[in-house]
Amino acid sequence: MESKEDMGATSWERVKSGLAEIGYVADDRLSMALHLAQALGRPLLLEGPAGVGKTEVARAMAQLMGTELIRLQCYEGLDASHAIYEWNYQRQLLAIRASEATGGVSEAALFSEDYLLRRPLLEAISRAVPPVLLIDEIDRADEEFEAYLLEVLSEFQITIPELGTVTAQSRPIVVLTANGTRDLSDALRRRCLYSYVDYPDRETELAILQARAPQIEARLARQIVGVVQGLRREELEKLPGIAEMLDWAAALSGLGVNDLSQSPDAVQATLVCLLKTAADRDAAPREVMDRLIGKVA
Ligand SMILES: Nc1ncnc2c1ncn2[C@@H]1O[C@H](COP(=O)(O)OP(=O)(O)OP(=O)(O)O)[C@@H](O)[C@H]1O
Ligand SMILES: [Mg+2]
Repeated sequence: MESKEDMGATSWERVKSGLAEIGYVADDRLSMALHLAQALGRPLLLEGPAGVGKTEVARAMAQLMGTELIRLQCYEGLDASHAIYEWNYQRQLLAIRASEATGGVSEAALFSEDYLLRRPLLEAISRAVPPVLLIDEIDRADEEFEAYLLEVLSEFQITIPELGTVTAQSRPIVVLTANGTRDLSDALRRRCLYSYVDYPDRETELAILQARAPQIEARLARQIVGVVQGLRREELEKLPGIAEMLDWAAALSGLGVNDLSQSPDAVQATLVCLLKTAADRDAAPREVMDRLIGKVA
């Protein structure tokens, strides 16, 4: 954790510039949130639409800090045995069988570290060097699981009845992501710092495209970002995220396009990258795309 002086005005800017160097463009608000999560040792809850870089920021933070990323992907039915720890029953049984001839094996030996399967939460608090712990899509897990998580996130310790309590020596940076599948409990929100990650503004999105696909020429990059920003203002079921924008840019560049206004067929052919439902595909016929391209050409 950083010292008091490091919590000054420029620390979050160091997060921002450090992330930019490794190709993740974070705006001021997200950079501040990440810095505070690190400085205060509090989990950070990131909410926002699909494909805006919530998962990726955890990966980028781990890379920036030169530490490991430990990821817990949440899903319906996720339970403590998959998230925290479980005993390796198969190995325990084998040990019991193997020791039958020699008079058996003690219970203490069976419930020792050797037979413990560490799952991501236990793994993250056991490390000497604190990792970044990504608890991805927490809103997909059940409320019951949220309750387990609350315990872990408030104390950063896990009690294993047979072994004792494991306490984090230094807290991992915890990033939780959600995109509104269900409401999260107030108790969980209270324990976390919070940042809403929205679609980026034009300038930020251009910077992301330049960071991720530097081979794309400035004019085409401006057109791509302008059209995607325009599409997000149309009545669509699923607005294209940053991931879709990057796919589209790669597709256009692969087809040798260098000016959208000269390549209507390529634009139509590559909309598969941007529009992900039949209704959205219908909502963006050639006329609509021509209009959007006309505004940015
Ligand atoms: N700010 C950013 N800087 C650089 N690349 C970004 C940024 N945001 C998103 N990306 C790119 O977009 C891709 C999609 O982002 P990511 O998977 O993190 O979205 P998400 O918000 O987790 O979406 P979902 O809710 O669907 O899981 C990333 O792999 C990354 O390449
Ligand atoms: Mg994600």
